[in-house]
Amino acid sequence: MLTGRLVELRPVRADDLDFLAALANCTPVRTHVVGWGWPISAEGQREWLQRSIGDPHLHRLTVTDQATGEPIGLTGLWELDWHNQSALTAAKLMPGLAPKGAGSDAIKLLMAWAFYEVGLRRLHSTILDFNGASLGAYVRRCGFRVEGRERASVFRRGEWRDLIRVAALRSDFDALPDADEYVERVCGPRPVPVSGVERVGSEPVAYAPNGH
Ligand SMILES: CC(C)(COP(=O)(O)OP(=O)(O)OC[C@H]1O[C@@H](n2cnc3c(N)ncnc32)[C@H](O)[C@@H]1OP(=O)(O)O)[C@@H](O)C(=O)NCCC(=O)NCCS
Repeated sequence: MLTGRLVELRPVRADDLDFLAALANCTPVRTHVVGWGWPISAEGQREWLQRSIGDPHLHRLTVTDQATGEPIGLTGLWELDWHNQSALTAAKLMPGLAPKGAGSDAIKLLMAWAFYEVGLRRLHSTILDFNGASLGAYVRRCGFRVEGRERASVFRRGEWRDLIRVAALRSDFDALPDADEYVERVCGPRPVPVSGVERVGSEPVAYAPNGH
């Protein structure tokens, strides 16, 4: 469980499936996310969850409202590339359920987790050219940088739309004014080395706290 200021991120559970089907079918969300899919039933959503369990290349997390504990969205890591220590990330929140700022809170939590717990060095995503909230959250508030533009790449509402490619390195996250807070939220306080543990040559000596 990852606890932010407004939201929590936790593994997807079977009792989230009705909500996740509603989120996947919600028209404003479908309009704004990059991927496209057929309308889905709760049953289809169950098969989707089963298929993804055990896949080492993805890890989905349910976003919940800290105040109510209820699911409000989905985020996670996709296309995990262990060799290059990178992954695709994305987020979607149900309109009307998420408190203002929930998206940025979820994104910073996920960045802290990916960079300081999972061990990644780069997160990337794509954003449709008309998605002001997503650009506001990822780029303006969470340190992602625009790396390119795919022209007329995605078919949406009968038109071909440009896709903005964005990414954040760990150093981009570290430059956020509240990076330390989010690392502490995910990993706890920074552990300090125990004093009194010395090595002589290559031989470890006994742990001797306070010189005893
Ligand atoms: C993208 C998403 C996760 C962002 O979450 P959020 O809670 O709206 O994000 P935040 O409020 O933390 O940050 C968004 C920022 O962009 C601003 N913003 C919102 N709509 C905007 C618009 N049309 N144009 C410019 N800025 C906009 C917000 O005011 C906010 O900035 P502020 O905090 O300085 O006021 C959420 O809007 C969402 O789920 N949208 C539908 C699905 C989606 O688009 N997913 C992303 C696919 S790439």
